[in-house]
Amino acid sequence: MKLLILGSNGQVGHCLAEQAEKKGLEFYATNSSQLDITDYSKVAEVFRQVNPSLVINATAYTNVEKAEDEPEKALEVNSKSVGNLAGLCSKNNVPLIHISTDYVFDGTKDGYYQENDPVNPINSYGKSKLAGEQAVIANTGRYVILRTSWVFGRHGKNFVKTMLNLFKSRDELTVVSDQIGGPTFAGDIASAILRIAEVLESRPDFSDWGIFNFSGKEDVSWFEFAKSIYEASRQKQLITKDVSIKPIPASMFKTKATRPQNSKLDLSKIKNVFDISASDWKSEIDNYIEHYLQ
Ligand SMILES: NC(=O)c1ccc[n+]([C@@H]2O[C@H](COP(=O)([O-])OP(=O)(O)OC[C@H]3O[C@@H](n4cnc5c(N)ncnc54)[C@H](OP(=O)(O)O)[C@@H]3O)[C@@H](O)[C@H]2O)c1
Repeated sequence: MKLLILGSNGQVGHCLAEQAEKKGLEFYATNSSQLDITDYSKVAEVFRQVNPSLVINATAYTNVEKAEDEPEKALEVNSKSVGNLAGLCSKNNVPLIHISTDYVFDGTKDGYYQENDPVNPINSYGKSKLAGEQAVIANTGRYVILRTSWVFGRHGKNFVKTMLNLFKSRDELTVVSDQIGGPTFAGDIASAILRIAEVLESRPDFSDWGIFNFSGKEDVSWFEFAKSIYEASRQKQLITKDVSIKPIPASMFKTKATRPQNSKLDLSKIKNVFDISASDWKSEIDNYIEHYLQ
C-alpha cells in the first residue's frame, strides 16, 4: 500500500501522517505549501511521481464564517479541486478516501442522520462540501466519503482550544445550547481512515463504495460540550478558577453562517461495513488536556 495524503497540516491530515508513520506504512504527505490542491497540473504531476495505490484527501476550506464572504474560493477548494482529484484517481484506478461534513444537512431531522437522508446545506461551506461529494461521485466509482462532525485535534484551531483559552481569560461565558452534534477527535478520524485503507487494500473485490458517517458519541450541545471540557480541565487542574458557563440559543449568538440544529449522525453503516465504532470524545478530552499540560 502506498498512500498519498493531501493536507498534512490540517487537524486530520496531521494525525494521518503521524499514524501512517507510526504504523510503518509507505506514504507521501503534502501540506498546502508543498501542493496547492487548486493547482491541477501540479496535483497531476505529484500523482504521477508518487504513483499511489490509495489517495486520502484531508484538504479543505474549513472557515465556515469566511466562506459566506468568499463562496467561490470555498467551492474551488472543496469541490472543483476535489472533482479534479477524483478524476485522476479514476484514470489511474486508485481508490479515493475523501472527508465531508454533517453540514451537508439542514439539521431539521428529528433523529439521527443516515447516509442516504436528503441533503440540504444551509451555509456556503456546507454547499461547497456537498458539491465536493457530488464531484467525487461524478468523477470516480471507487470512493469512500467519510462524513464527520465537530472535529478537534491537537493541531489547528478548534472549539476545545477556544474553550480552554476562554476559561483562562474569562470568569463567565455563554455557549449555544440548541445545536446538537457529535464531537470527533481528529486522531480517531485518522484511525478510521487508515482502517478503511487497510480494508480496501486487503479486499480487491470491495464493492461497498459510498458515503459513511463517522463521529464521536454521545451527541451533545455545544454548551454541554463546553461544560465537559471545563469539568475535565478543572479535574486535571489545568484551570484552577471558577468559570460560569451559561446556555444561550443560537439566535443570540450572531454569526454570518447559519448552522444546523441537529448534526447527529447514525453510525451503523460504518460499523457494519468496516467494523469501526464511534469515537469516544470524552476520554479524548482527558487525553487532550493531559497533552496540553505537558
Ligand atoms: N473542522 C471541523 O469541525 C470539521 C467538521 C466536519 C467535517 N470536517 C471536514 O474534515 C476534513 C478535515 O478537516 P480539518 O478540521 O482537519 O481541517 P483543517 O484543520 O482546516 O485542515 C484543512 C487543511 O487543508 C489545507 N488546505 C486548504 N486549502 C488548500 C489548498 N488549496 N491546497 C492544499 N491544501 C489546502 C489547509 O492548509 P493550511 O494549513 O495552509 O490552512 C489545512 O491544512 C475536511 O474535509 C473538513 O471539511 C471538519
